[in-house]
Amino acid sequence: MNDGQYLVEVSNLRKRFNVRREQAATLKRVVTRLFRPYPHEALWALEGVSLSVKRGEIVGLIGVNGSGKSTLLRVIAGIYVPTEGDVVVNGQVGALFELETGFSLELSGMDNIFLSGSLMGYSRTQITEALPRVAEMVELEEFLQVPVKAYSSGMKFRLGFGIAMAFDPEVLLVDEVMAAADEAFQRKAYRRLREFRDSGSGVMLVSHEMDAVRSHCDRVIWLADGKIRAEGSTDEVLDAYLSEIGPEAGNNSNINSGR
Ligand SMILES: Nc1ncnc2c1ncn2[C@@H]1O[C@H](COP(=O)(O)OP(=O)(O)O)[C@@H](O)[C@H]1O
Ligand SMILES: [Mg+2]
Repeated sequence: MNDGQYLVEVSNLRKRFNVRREQAATLKRVVTRLFRPYPHEALWALEGVSLSVKRGEIVGLIGVNGSGKSTLLRVIAGIYVPTEGDVVVNGQVGALFELETGFSLELSGMDNIFLSGSLMGYSRTQITEALPRVAEMVELEEFLQVPVKAYSSGMKFRLGFGIAMAFDPEVLLVDEVMAAADEAFQRKAYRRLREFRDSGSGVMLVSHEMDAVRSHCDRVIWLADGKIRAEGSTDEVLDAYLSEIGPEAGNNSNINSGR
């Protein structure tokens, strides 16, 4: 079935979370809970998603908050186990998820590179070899000695992006973090993503920045309520999405401009 062209193949993926129902603590409930587990509700974050990512493409993943984008990337990254369905990944995965959760804030940038590298399974020698590649991406070498808690979100992005790219992944998963970088660094990061794609790797990019999705994605998948609502050419899917959620909502600059 796999001819080496597909980096990611997801079929009929369903992911359920068991959410604890919030209830006020009455004496009766406290007592009955001693003998019974908390009531749980099943929340289906993904309800039958099938997709693939080929070598040489940047796939945009869009959808309103809560539509399942982060859950999907986390299942592909192997952080979450699928409840049903199959996920096959052919190649090394690099991931850039929420910047706050990826780092140990008390440790320096350098220590975080070693920590992340060893969590990804690399040896000290391999991480040392990757260091110049991270430093080239980060550009702010002096900051590598400073604890990450002192970093701005832009600096955390640089470090996270540098680490995600340092070990030559074949699939890169990027969840909503590009906006944290300043404009010049965003240009550099997107250029890096395109080079990465052109060298035969694949990218899944979650973003609410519709202009960036339009300029950089080869095609787009629209998730709504845990299902694929539409997929196809970037312009087609974006136009359908924007006409549904309203053009205002697709332009993040409106949020800050006070209009
Ligand atoms: N760890 C979790 N535990 C329980 N529910 C979760 C968890 N992660 C996500 N969800 C729920 O799954 C749905 C999809 O969330 P998510 O994948 O984060 O969406 P998106 O990234 O598109 O905003 C939401 O209803 C969210 O509340
Ligand atoms: Mg998300």
